[in-house]
Amino acid sequence: MDVSEVVAAHYGSGDLTSAILRALDEAGVDTTRLAVGDLGALDQLHAGFAAATRVVLEHLGVVEGTRLLDVGCGLGGASRMAAHEFGAIVTGFDLTPQFVAAATELTARMGLADRVELQVAPGDHLPLADGSRDAAMMIHVGMNLPDKRAVFAEVRRVLRPGGIFAVYDQMRVGPGALTFPQPWADGVGSSFVESPDQYAEHLAAAGFTVLATVDRTPEVLGPPPPSAGGLTPAVVLGRGFVDRLRNTEADIAKGRLGAVLVTARVE
Ligand SMILES: C[S@@+](CC[C@H](N)C(=O)[O-])C[C@H]1O[C@@H](n2cnc3c(N)ncnc32)[C@H](O)[C@@H]1O
Repeated sequence: MDVSEVVAAHYGSGDLTSAILRALDEAGVDTTRLAVGDLGALDQLHAGFAAATRVVLEHLGVVEGTRLLDVGCGLGGASRMAAHEFGAIVTGFDLTPQFVAAATELTARMGLADRVELQVAPGDHLPLADGSRDAAMMIHVGMNLPDKRAVFAEVRRVLRPGGIFAVYDQMRVGPGALTFPQPWADGVGSSFVESPDQYAEHLAAAGFTVLATVDRTPEVLGPPPPSAGGLTPAVVLGRGFVDRLRNTEADIAKGRLGAVLVTARVE
């Protein structure tokens, strides 16, 4: 299996759409009339959950009508927040077909299908025209990308001049071997954690100017906020998720990992 196949197999298993709808049902949520907040942290597969997504969207300056690209959209939680709270028109792509299928169903049930379109595609081959988007985000995807430069170059291609790109990832902030399994990988074969300086080099090589690099670790540590039925990414990532998260937290405590937000502009 190549890295893409390992990553898609890691995230997508079984009938994810039914599993999510069942979990929502059990949590007492009316799945025929979903609201964006109903999913709790279930569709926010990154440190800091919905609150961290909001900060990314604020850094991007997303407003009514912004044409926003979401690379590695997962279950579409960030895409839907961008549309619902900020008025963006969102196109999201993800490698994992089960995620895109579930994300599309959830989006339709929230009545957002006219503003959020999610498709299966790898980040380095986006089926979008040159310069067709105003802003782009990539949230907790880079840890799975062996060739970030290729993805950044593709994002650069589809952004208009002056377009802003926000990358929010777990990054390498100090030495020492990482503890596996992590939420994004079972081992080094599909884990490509890099430092903020390396991200900056890749972004510059792809034609971006880095605007800001912010270590958000202190703000995003900890479990998801309480929600109806206690919905968490464990519904999606399996029961082992809690142990995986513990390994991330241990590596953060040892100064190896940090949740870093980098913003860059197309020149
Ligand atoms: C930890 S999840 C984050 C999902 C979403 N951005 C969020 O924050 O909720 C990582 C996602 O990246 C996707 N992914 C990994 N490598 C990718 C690639 N090369 N192209 C597109 N998506 C990718 C995975 O399928 C998975 O959905």
